[in-house]
Amino acid sequence: LTDVQNDLTEILITEEQIRSRIAELSRDIERDYAGKDVLLVGVLKGAVMVMADFARELKIPVTMDWMAVSSYGSGTQSSGVVRILKDLDTDLEGKTVLIVEDIIDSGLTLSWLLSNLRSRNPESIEIFTLLRKPEAARVEIDVKYVGFDIPNQFVVGYGLDYAERYRNLRGVGILAPAVYS
Ligand code: PRP
Ligand code: MN
Ligand code: MG
Repeated sequence: LTDVQNDLTEILITEEQIRSRIAELSRDIERDYAGKDVLLVGVLKGAVMVMADFARELKIPVTMDWMAVSSYGSGTQSSGVVRILKDLDTDLEGKTVLIVEDIIDSGLTLSWLLSNLRSRNPESIEIFTLLRKPEAARVEIDVKYVGFDIPNQFVVGYGLDYAERYRNLRGVGILAPAVYS
């Protein structure tokens, strides 16, 4: 039996820290969106875990929809050119939209997604991300709700993958370089 935890050099954020930070942000959001019907837009697949926990923590009425996108281009670097693999089922016209992401790395995915979704005329659109890497930012994005700013290292767990693995870890950890080199 191999324990996937052995592939990590360090647990960066524990399950309990995630839970408590999501609860904190949820109280802000309940205040900011009082009286509104919020549409949470999750970005597959990374945002699955944070959406599940965040949506259940919120005490205001929400609906949920999902989008799947993929960056074009070669290699591991996001090119910023994005293709829609699965679009929303919901018409955004007049809606109060909150995008839910697991991580903003270069910011290129979200930057593209924001302008795409804005063109559909929602009443408002904001971003909730569990993690953000300030040192990796290649575009400036106005993010209203950020769980944690983290160092520019390769992290996995709680939805974040390396080659589709590790998404099911309960916390967020730094992947041992030996695993991907
Ligand atoms: C990851 C992550 C974000 C995006 C951030 O998704 O979940 O959606 O990359 O990167 P960026 O800020 O540099 O654009 P990925 O494309 O790996 O797909 P996944 O969610 O299915 O893992
Ligand atoms: Mn993603
Ligand atoms: Mg990924």
